[in-house]
Amino acid sequence: MITMEDVVREGDPILRERAESVAMPPSEEDKDTLQKMHEFLVNSQDPELSLKYNLRPGIGLAAPQIGVSKRMIAVLVEDEDGQLYDYALFNPRIMSHSVQKSYLEGGEGCLSVDRDVPGFVPRNYKVKVKAFDIEGREIELRLKGLPSIVFQHEIDHLNGVMFYDHINKEDPFERPDGISIGR
Ligand code: NI
Repeated sequence: MITMEDVVREGDPILRERAESVAMPPSEEDKDTLQKMHEFLVNSQDPELSLKYNLRPGIGLAAPQIGVSKRMIAVLVEDEDGQLYDYALFNPRIMSHSVQKSYLEGGEGCLSVDRDVPGFVPRNYKVKVKAFDIEGREIELRLKGLPSIVFQHEIDHLNGVMFYDHINKEDPFERPDGISIGR
């Protein structure tokens, strides 16, 4: 299983690389890696397991964060209405997005960043994402609110982008023109 010891921290150059596309249909090895990434999120959100294995709770994970420079992400998050977004995906890509922006009221965090980085992270409120599920079937998702932000954060990792790259350096708490999302 993946633990925090496997999670690459900021400063490692792999987090700044553009990750490689995964060949479809996926190999057993790639499926296994993606499954383990997803399992990490499940374990990290389990009160007993997270305590036992010292896992920081995560709602998203991208393969470069475990040292694998391939386009794979796992997401496990509830939206504002309690609906679960539970995905393990290959080659996710943002097809289109709303003009409307949004941001998390409490800022963002990252399993690869062991410090608080204060400031608002402007995101697109809605995104349309295409990707391949663990069996290599193409899927399309329309996301808004918190799940949309999590997908944008994870897809950023595949392009070597960290959440704080988006924060206004001069004025981190200048409110972006968009919808504030509580969390
Ligand atoms: Ni992250």
